[in-house]
Amino acid sequence: MQVLRTVAEVRALVARARNAGRIVGLVPTMGALHEGHQSLIRRAAAECDLVVVSVFVNPTQFGPQEDFDRYPRNVERDAELAAEAGADAVFAPGVGEMYPEGYQTYVTVERVTAGLCGAHRPGHFRGVATVVLKLFNICRPHRAYFGEKDFQQLVVIRRLVSDLNVDLEVVGCETVREPDGLALSSRNQYLTDEERRVAPLIYRALRRAAEGLRSGQLFHFSPEQIVRGALGREPRMKVEYVEFVDPVALEPKDPCQLPVVIAVAVHLGQTRLIDHVIIEGREDA
Ligand code: PAJ
Repeated sequence: MQVLRTVAEVRALVARARNAGRIVGLVPTMGALHEGHQSLIRRAAAECDLVVVSVFVNPTQFGPQEDFDRYPRNVERDAELAAEAGADAVFAPGVGEMYPEGYQTYVTVERVTAGLCGAHRPGHFRGVATVVLKLFNICRPHRAYFGEKDFQQLVVIRRLVSDLNVDLEVVGCETVREPDGLALSSRNQYLTDEERRVAPLIYRALRRAAEGLRSGQLFHFSPEQIVRGALGREPRMKVEYVEFVDPVALEPKDPCQLPVVIAVAVHLGQTRLIDHVIIEGREDA
């Protein structure tokens, strides 16, 4: 496993692979790798000849009050986990390598970043779109792998690639969950034992609302009442948003008009967690 620190090293590695006709896959991450990241790496390794995993805690996507400083960092451990899942190289640049003195160019994806997390984390998707486009230009992958877990992020990146004619295929990968339904996330490490115990409520509430919508049985309660009602019973959880949106445009939508995505963000103690479900159609349709 090679851990590369500079843009020049990655460019050289990728150029050799591309010249030899090999397919290059990129898995962008912020490290603190877990089984969710590893599932992306495994998929990339199955479909590509050279797999590069980037590990970079990107300062431009964190707000001033957010967890940039305390975000978990351990590149050696990440390199081991990436290798175990089939990666060939880890690209772990320093902040100065990605944003050297004089840096001043940013990418803004407009409408799909207006709502959901975009509305609550100003500048977040500008930072994500910027760093992801930089990683695409540095690593020049044929395919790039992203998790559906961060649903809005995946939509933003598909939009970016399409709008700016980036020559690669974006591959969306299913959310990996704990046996109790909690979506794996690097931020789950922040949870206390008690918070971890109640965290699965989020996905349980989403599933209940989804089942109601699928079967058309939500006569007395709206899907929003179901989700808010279930989460509101847990005093440690503060709901940031529960929204029903179109899966492509991400614009608010009547939840009875399928397909629809139910997306939520909650604060559980000091930790912000997001999750969603997609309801494609009615069972009886
Ligand atoms: P990070 O949160 O480290 O996630 C890296 C990739 O792993 C993302 O595509 C994310 O959707 C995916 N992922 C995380 N948890 C997952 C899970 N439980 N199941 C499946 N996939 C999962 O997302 C970022 O980093 C950053 O915003 C980044 C795109 C790297 C830009 O800085």
